[in-house]
Amino acid sequence: MKLFYSTRVARMFSMRKIAVINLKGGVGKTTTSINIGVGLSNNKRRVLLIDMDPQANLTEALFLRNDKTIYDLLINKVHPSEVILRVNDFLDAITSDKRLSNGELIMAGMPSRETILRRAMEPVFNYDYVIIDCPPSNGLLNYNALLYADEAFVPVSTDYLGIVGLRRIVEILDEINELFDHKIKISNVIPTMFDRRNKICNESLNEIKRGFNGEVVEPIRVNSKLKEMPRSGLSIFDYAKRSRGADDYSKLVNHLLNKEEYY
Ligand SMILES: Nc1ncnc2c1ncn2[C@@H]1O[C@H](COP(=O)(O)OP(=O)(O)OP(=O)(O)O)[C@@H](O)[C@H]1O
Ligand SMILES: [Mg+2]
Repeated sequence: MKLFYSTRVARMFSMRKIAVINLKGGVGKTTTSINIGVGLSNNKRRVLLIDMDPQANLTEALFLRNDKTIYDLLINKVHPSEVILRVNDFLDAITSDKRLSNGELIMAGMPSRETILRRAMEPVFNYDYVIIDCPPSNGLLNYNALLYADEAFVPVSTDYLGIVGLRRIVEILDEINELFDHKIKISNVIPTMFDRRNKICNESLNEIKRGFNGEVVEPIRVNSKLKEMPRSGLSIFDYAKRSRGADDYSKLVNHLLNKEEYY
């Protein structure tokens, strides 16, 4: 049996399966997935990052390479033990590649097409967190992520239309829960690209807090080190540990750790 689920000891709480999602592009989904994933693994939580996006931004931003990717898991029915890449003692990843662009078309013709990921991941249980970086599109890849996950983290950019993206995700989750008798919920809304001196950012943040009936965490500020991070192959904690970006994501990770007992 492979290492990833044989020798790792499960913690007391169950495996949290989190989709990091917003249909709006460029709001910080990948940046958030990487930094909370690496941040939690730095705190000795066993983390599996899944790149579910045909753009493969997470895979490329962490300089990950694997012959077998999420495409093989979903389309070619390859066992998870063959697609999971060990990054370090606490961090594993399932990478993506550009073949996934055709993945949705192929999945459309497969039986129970919305739950392919859920069924493929059945043998995988020994992580504290599975974090899925979702694509910015409303298709089968996201349906699969949302029907596998039991929580959604929604990064919302603090700009003029940020709240619209959030409302759309709330609607989609309601639809999915009703149609599939599923119980995914938004456990964290994460305001991103925040600039305290900017009027639109402040108005948008207030609107998000007013418009969402649930947890809105402290905003992630706009930060040039976060923008540079993907070309380093590192998380913000390794690329620029004294930056605002590292500060903000570190606070978010601590917040998640502090609330673990509720899960
Ligand atoms: N807080 C921030 N401050 C400055 N730049 C940021 C911040 N967060 C993310 N970025 C940059 O903004 C761009 C978009 O971020 P990211 O790729 O994380 O968004 P995304 O929602 O995953 O995008 P997509 O929808 O294309 O997958 C990237 O260049 C990233 O480096
Ligand atoms: Mg992305």
